Amino acid sequence: MSRKFYYTLHPRLCVIIGSGKVSENVINFMAATWITPISEDLPTVGFSCSKETYTCELIKKYKQFSVNIVKDVKLIWQVGTTSGKEINKVEKFKIKFKAGKVLDVPIIEDCLAYLECKVIKEVEVSECIFFIGEVKNWEAQNFDEYGFKNFWELPYHKAGRAFVFLSKNFVMI
Ligand SMILES: Cc1cc2nc3c(=O)[nH]c(=O)nc-3n(C[C@H](O)[C@H](O)[C@H](O)COP(=O)(O)O)c2cc1C
Repeated sequence: MSRKFYYTLHPRLCVIIGSGKVSENVINFMAATWITPISEDLPTVGFSCSKETYTCELIKKYKQFSVNIVKDVKLIWQVGTTSGKEINKVEKFKIKFKAGKVLDVPIIEDCLAYLECKVIKEVEVSECIFFIGEVKNWEAQNFDEYGFKNFWELPYHKAGRAFVFLSKNFVMI
């Protein structure tokens, strides 16, 4: 049996985490699938971040991150298989970004949605840190009370190099 117990919880929406501080020209992006909403009254999200990543280093330093929802699986793979410790991903993958409206975090231009998050708690678990961020601002395109109108465009990570997309079927109960 595979050690990968967590694939029982996949496929999961895969996002791109932005970290750093735009005004200091410190900008990095990485792929993340282990991300979840946590509470609504205080709007929060959390994601599990390997301590080895440059992202972890930057979030610990600046106490902020962005969550970017994109449809570009190739970009997800690129930022998910390279480290900002070794390369400048913005230059290498020609990522267009802007600063957030409330926090000075990098946001991917033309993403389907983004959240600007201020870190309020860090939970260390083995080789990872679960960063809990308060959502200070968010925007989404083509969105209504049922969420993304074109939900079938969102990439879900299945395993390894495999991504899946939802069918367009929509069931109202
Ligand atoms: C599809 C996919 C999903 C990933 N999900 C996570 C995740 O949830 N948490 C994490 O720490 N790393 C995750 N990674 C790995 C990081 O994106 C990867 O280690 C990246 O190189 C870190 O970049 P950085 O060192 O520039 O921060 C994922 C990678 C891929 C390809």
